[in-house]
Amino acid sequence: MSPQLKIAPSILAADFLRLEEQISLALEGGADYIHLDVMDGRFVRNITFGPAMVAAISPLVHRAGAQVDVHLMIESPEYFIPAFAQAGADILTIHVESCKDLAGTLKGIRVHGARAGLTLRPKTPLLAVTAGIPLADLILVMSVEPGQGGQNFLPESFTRLKRIRELIDEAGNRADLEVDGGIQADNARAIVEAGANVLVAGTSIFKSPLPIPDAVRALRQAAGLPSPTVS
Ligand code: DX5
Ligand code: ZN
Repeated sequence: MSPQLKIAPSILAADFLRLEEQISLALEGGADYIHLDVMDGRFVRNITFGPAMVAAISPLVHRAGAQVDVHLMIESPEYFIPAFAQAGADILTIHVESCKDLAGTLKGIRVHGARAGLTLRPKTPLLAVTAGIPLADLILVMSVEPGQGGQNFLPESFTRLKRIRELIDEAGNRADLEVDGGIQADNARAIVEAGANVLVAGTSIFKSPLPIPDAVRALRQAAGLPSPTVS
């Protein structure tokens, strides 16, 4: 059985000048995780922020009883685990493509008191993460090419989610299965039916025509509703 549904707003789509206010609104709407996308300009062609930003945001998230979900789109993530753990990250997710010692780094994340997440680019074969699944607390299926918000959900992600959910179950693991990229109310239910239980959403929450708390609630509600029947 899949673990509980969680909504993880990604601040990549937020107004950085009003970050405190917008994160607070997402938390008011019942966000379970706040998803922080760390990009180094090398692993992906974009640069965002580092441990100082995570340290500034973490107390706000923790006061609301939510968790800080850090997605590391960086080269050599192993060097930065202590700094991000110290900054208050509850979950540290590394990319299989940029990590030379997967098992050692996943174990190191746990040693630093965070939950260990493992992810892969949409084109990376699932085989690349199989060995890491028993060592992870969260598996993240990227449903867009990492580096930018606002892209369309890649439909091949459905079969990848189903297969990863099977592998998690076969490993006897209770890891979260997270999905990131192009998630909105109209595809949320099908994504959950494919086995995901953590939905990351940037654009559909922070750039929604709805107030931010309502956008979080709408996504959660949509994820729980039966998907439209295709005849
Ligand atoms: C992409 C990031 C995502 C991004 C998702 O590299 O990992 O977390 O913020 O954005 P949306 O929801 O706009 O596709
Ligand atoms: Zn992300």
